[in-house]
Amino acid sequence: MERTRWYKDKVFYQVWPRSFKDGNGDGLGDLLGVYEKLDYIKDLGCDGIWFSPIYPSPGADCGYDISDYMDIAPEFGGMEAFREVLEGAHDRGMKIVMDLVVNHTSDEHEWFQKSRQRIDPYTDYYIWRPDPGNGKLPNNWDSNFEGKAWTYDEVRGEYYLHLFAVKQPDLNMDNPKVREEVKRILRFWLDLGVDGFREDVITYISKKEGLPDDHLFPIYKGMPQYNHGPHVHEYLAEFKRDVLDHYDCFTIAEAPLVTPKQALTYIREDDGQLDMMIQFQCMCADCLFSDYLPTKFHLRKLKRAFSNWQYRLKGQAWNSLYIENHDHPRIVSRYGSEQFREESAKMLAVMYLFQQGTPFVYQGQEIGMTNWRPESPDMYEDVQTRYNYAHSNLKKSPEQRLQAMWRASRDSARTLMQWDSSENAGFTTGKPWFYVNGNYKQINVAAQEGDPDSVLNFYRKAIRLRKSLSCIRHGEYREHFPHSGKVYMYSMTEEMEKTLVVCSFSEKPLRYRAPKGFDLDSAELALGNYAQPIKNTLHPYECKVYLWK
Ligand code: NOJ
Repeated sequence: MERTRWYKDKVFYQVWPRSFKDGNGDGLGDLLGVYEKLDYIKDLGCDGIWFSPIYPSPGADCGYDISDYMDIAPEFGGMEAFREVLEGAHDRGMKIVMDLVVNHTSDEHEWFQKSRQRIDPYTDYYIWRPDPGNGKLPNNWDSNFEGKAWTYDEVRGEYYLHLFAVKQPDLNMDNPKVREEVKRILRFWLDLGVDGFREDVITYISKKEGLPDDHLFPIYKGMPQYNHGPHVHEYLAEFKRDVLDHYDCFTIAEAPLVTPKQALTYIREDDGQLDMMIQFQCMCADCLFSDYLPTKFHLRKLKRAFSNWQYRLKGQAWNSLYIENHDHPRIVSRYGSEQFREESAKMLAVMYLFQQGTPFVYQGQEIGMTNWRPESPDMYEDVQTRYNYAHSNLKKSPEQRLQAMWRASRDSARTLMQWDSSENAGFTTGKPWFYVNGNYKQINVAAQEGDPDSVLNFYRKAIRLRKSLSCIRHGEYREHFPHSGKVYMYSMTEEMEKTLVVCSFSEKPLRYRAPKGFDLDSAELALGNYAQPIKNTLHPYECKVYLWK
């Protein structure tokens, strides 16, 4: 099947279904709600949707613990609602991408239930190890969410590996039967008409033989022993050869800590096994590796991250572009400023939307939602936050520990979508499953619809402009004044068309000059976030997109 690489012209919207829109009044977001909002997503300029998991799941990790891969959870509306959303999306020229979570399953999945009882063919579907005795574990790896990576199972009398929560046992991908299951899942959804997959922590699926102890990493101990493991390329190539190559679909892989060099071994267009990667470098400008190791925000680090990926993939592979998703706090509260919320939300949009790659917008980002700050740690739902709070520095006051969670927790960005100023932000007519950010009366879709200067309407303009420019897809990226700690400036140049993007990350006005070869007097100011821009000056968090045609 010829691969048309249609994804290069798309802008995706990420739906985190629980908090997006409740269509049936039971308090939980669902597919009926998504169906109602398809036109909203389309009007934003997004012509693809990535669904975080909507399969049956006990919900230990908000759906990333799947108990049935070939169904849609009844609470989201089941298969029937999904078919309608799929058709509704396709009728509007939109693509649908599913989350493929096959590094692990739920412990309530039938495979695990049978595996723990040693019922074939499931006996070796997971990674089991005998009890080494003396209170020891099979190795020294940490899980990403809940302490050590091993839990003892009374039924089987052995330990199982879980790189995430205790309720998320890792599959044994070295078992060819497990790989056949993955292929069955892929075919099932592709035959139903879905257009691609976002592959959850897919670089973790092949663990080093013998599962050796790790002495390299102080945190996330074990990661070098399973990230980009020995057979990962072979397994991904197998999925591609046997399934993906037979459909005009696409794949985007989540890849913690991946470098551009490593990424190319997965996504080079001539011989890659996947199409795009979700890298984490752009999420680490105010932390070290993880949101839980915060630092000050460093613009130079952010610029290096974006530029690195633009330069290194150029001509060989295609970037994914994002600044928010369900795993990170809100970007305005991180790289922008809540004081200059509207200005910084718009500036951050421009900052990433005019680069080469396929952009993703996370629900609520397009209205400039900010971090949620609960009064009590008990209000957190997320398994990772709960664990990290309980194990955070006990020498600090409860207040300080809670503030650390505000800054790092995924729940900061998982509150209800703010549709209007009515009760529960218009998310549900029932009792909502989760909290709403207290600022919903000021920040919501309805209030922004009618305001031509709102963040929402700015996103619409920015996406429209991006789509009209050929130099974004085909041009040459170049960063200017990389040493500036306050301004991010880059250009995209194609023969007859070029843009210069200028973004201020400062709360104070700044002077700037254009780089050589960019005559601002002959440019059109195609987009900006201030009504009265001043030449060579940047207001707080101002952005400008200059265009030469
Ligand atoms: C990455 C997902 O994005 C995250 O939400 C999830 O908790 C872990 N993988 C485990 O599946």
